[in-house]
Amino acid sequence: MTRASLDKQPNEVAAMFDKVAARYDITNDVLSLGQARLWRREVARAVDARPGERVLDLAAGTGTSSVPFATAGAYTVPCDFSLGMLREGKKREPWMPFTAGDATRLPFADEAFDAVTISFGLRNVHDTDTALREMLRVTKSGGRVVICEFSHPTWEPFRKVYTEYLMRALPPVAEAVSSNPDAYVYLAESIRAWPDQPGLARRLQDAGWEKVAWRDLTGGIVALHRGFAP
Ligand SMILES: C[S@@+](CC[C@H](N)C(=O)[O-])C[C@H]1O[C@@H](n2cnc3c(N)ncnc32)[C@H](O)[C@@H]1O
Repeated sequence: MTRASLDKQPNEVAAMFDKVAARYDITNDVLSLGQARLWRREVARAVDARPGERVLDLAAGTGTSSVPFATAGAYTVPCDFSLGMLREGKKREPWMPFTAGDATRLPFADEAFDAVTISFGLRNVHDTDTALREMLRVTKSGGRVVICEFSHPTWEPFRKVYTEYLMRALPPVAEAVSSNPDAYVYLAESIRAWPDQPGLARRLQDAGWEKVAWRDLTGGIVALHRGFAP
């Protein structure tokens, strides 16, 4: 079995996602109690992709997060470094230009995209700050970034219940539905180790993004961060 550790060796992370690829989307729906669909709708609204625009969906996995931008009429490139996830995506959406690439060394020219977005991916990237700078490099001046990531519930009593849910309930439920339950132990650990909302906003600013703001979803279980390229 493959489980990435919190020091996030890129080959371990890619191998872990290769293993969960086949049942990735169904497991998400079950574990998020259906909230994943609502979060994806909010990402689509925040990105606000328009016909004729070019959108990069980074760490796109099976491409589920990419489809809404293509549906809105934008030329959408799903990019990921797990070949297992890309293969699964290509089976489902053969028309999308799935591209193999590492978030810390993107295979795209400077200012190639109007918008860059990443859903439930940045937490897994081994070097977050390099990825944030790479995302800025490939975004046009005035273009936008939208990051959708697990975050920290803002209401203290709820935060406690949530941490309990994560620590105790997630791995046994994952055992029943996932092809690699160990990956969901990593999920719980990596969420706890991830910066809170102001912390991630600072990292975006330090990488050079401007007008950075965020919005909490489901009480802060997830946060959407947005920024603009200078
Ligand atoms: C939890 S999945 C998210 C997939 C998709 N965005 C979604 O919302 O369903 C995280 C993805 O990040 C990818 N990933 C992690 N580190 C990466 C990196 N350095 N470069 C590219 N992709 C990466 C993994 O391969 C995996 O497919």
